[in-house]
Amino acid sequence: MCSLQRIQSLAKQHATAITLNQLMRPFSGKHSLIRQGKWLQKELPIHFARSIDEFHQLPFGTTQNANIKQILDIYMETFETISSFPDIRMERDATNFCTLLHSQLEQHRNVARFLAVCCQELRIMYPNIQLDSFLDGLFTARLSTRILSENYILMHSSPREGFTGVVQHDLSPVQVIQESSDQIVRLTQSIYGVAPEVEFRGSLGCTVDYIPFHVHFMAQELIKNAVRATTERHLPLRNAALASSWWPSCQVEASPTQLPKVVIEIQEGDIHLTIKISDQGGGMSEAVQKKAWQYGWSTAGQDWDDENCDVRKELAGFGFGLRLTRLHARLLGGDVIMQTRPGHGTDMYILLNHLSDKGGQLVHPIH
Ligand SMILES: Nc1ncnc2c1ncn2[C@@H]1O[C@H](COP(=O)(O)OP(=O)(O)OP(=O)(O)O)[C@@H](O)[C@H]1O
Ligand SMILES: [Mg+2]
Repeated sequence: MCSLQRIQSLAKQHATAITLNQLMRPFSGKHSLIRQGKWLQKELPIHFARSIDEFHQLPFGTTQNANIKQILDIYMETFETISSFPDIRMERDATNFCTLLHSQLEQHRNVARFLAVCCQELRIMYPNIQLDSFLDGLFTARLSTRILSENYILMHSSPREGFTGVVQHDLSPVQVIQESSDQIVRLTQSIYGVAPEVEFRGSLGCTVDYIPFHVHFMAQELIKNAVRATTERHLPLRNAALASSWWPSCQVEASPTQLPKVVIEIQEGDIHLTIKISDQGGGMSEAVQKKAWQYGWSTAGQDWDDENCDVRKELAGFGFGLRLTRLHARLLGGDVIMQTRPGHGTDMYILLNHLSDKGGQLVHPIH
């Protein structure tokens, strides 16, 4: 059977949904390693076949875009490489399979950023193109394959204290988020010359079993949005206040020379751990709320034609942050909820499930 036929046939198959609790069961001994390797060798081609098939479902002409072609080539190569790997029979085969997975993960490292650029190009070429469901499918498959592959590699080659595979036990969300927010504040200062302070409140000592990268990614995206909104709304007012000797009392909620804080509150519940990120960045109008969850829609960058554009894009501009954050949360059984008050500010809630609870949540390889 040629590759294309094989891809079409595999793309129709259901990939197995597994729970994070299942992922967290340590597998020891060479037989388990071989068994898990065999399972992955069967599952991963299904994920990649479905992703490749999604590319082929795009409107005619789209796959002629040079960047899309390049991404498709990476997916095809991974599909071929994993599919043609010999049967895993011995421990040595499993080790070689880990090495292969590692190198394939590297190939895919920049695909997300690359897709964001493609999305902008395609929207210019085809203004009415609908990419949200295509990108949801692609990112869901991408995240699932990364979790499964990294979990296998880590369980096999480098067991770390306090971790089972990719899952960290008793992860402190505050610690992870603090590192991320410090970086964002520094980045914002380098762009605007000023940045709001980030304050932590709530159950600061609470912990959860979770994948650290997921917490980092989700918090990072929402803090970037909160910090940018606060700075862009209040910077002109602050500058005006500094330039004049008087200050109209009711325009901002902070002292005239300071930006209002971004507040991060951790709340621990029975089912979820909630991370609430609040800003006074002016909120979103109804029109913005409707578009904000679309891939590639952004209010950033319209006047960024200076040489700092690349640095600014570290903060905003791809229009992927909100939608991808929600996708990350939902993949592991959580969610992202937005409450915005136009003219005032926004509260974003990230709900994380306590994954160590019985039953856990599903990692849906394909939605
Ligand atoms: N906290 C917020 N306050 C006000 N507007 C917001 C907030 N969060 C998001 N938005 C609006 O929603 C848009 C989309 O946000 P999203 O994070 O998806 O993309 P982005 O920040 O523009 O780019 P990037 O993908 O680089 O993060 C933003 O451009 C902004 O207009
Ligand atoms: Mg953003």
